[in-house]
Amino acid sequence: MYPGSFDPITNGHLDLIQRGSRMFDKLIVAILRNDAKQALFSIQERTEMMREVLHVYPNVELDSFDGLLVDFAAAREATVLLRGIRAISDYEYELQMTLMNRRLRPEIETVFMMASETYSFISSRLVKEVFSLGGNVSGLVPAAVEARLRARLPKPKTLTQQGA
Ligand code: PNS
Repeated sequence: MYPGSFDPITNGHLDLIQRGSRMFDKLIVAILRNDAKQALFSIQERTEMMREVLHVYPNVELDSFDGLLVDFAAAREATVLLRGIRAISDYEYELQMTLMNRRLRPEIETVFMMASETYSFISSRLVKEVFSLGGNVSGLVPAAVEARLRARLPKPKTLTQQGA
């Protein structure tokens, strides 16, 4: 099971899903529903975008969850949690989550994969910030996500437009 907020899915997530789908017989991509963070995209929108890009992987299934991740994993009979590590800064948070999840359900293992160096600087948060400030995010997110960002976030005015 590959869990996350996916608000929105990035090419970094996609890279991990691609590798994960080669590593495991079946990979359930699990979208967190009740995130405390204010989400830009609703669970329906996130699911739609992800379905568009993930349908090409026959052994990848999309699902969403509330509550404890390990309980959902157990309910779906997943035995491994897959997480990506981009940089050393991810390590502390991931270590805490892994140890807590292990304490809650020791039978479920967490496995880490390194994100490709091409994508190691990408995060959903930065993609949203850069896009909302007029920066180019093509190549960082799937085209379906870029289209949704364009529809959702108004394009900022250029300097000349603002200068009046
Ligand atoms: O993409 P993210 O935001 O890094 O994913 C974090 C996620 C969804 C894996 C984490 O917040 C999570 O598992 N939330 C579910 C609630 C839970 O189980 N909390 C205890 C984790 S130790």
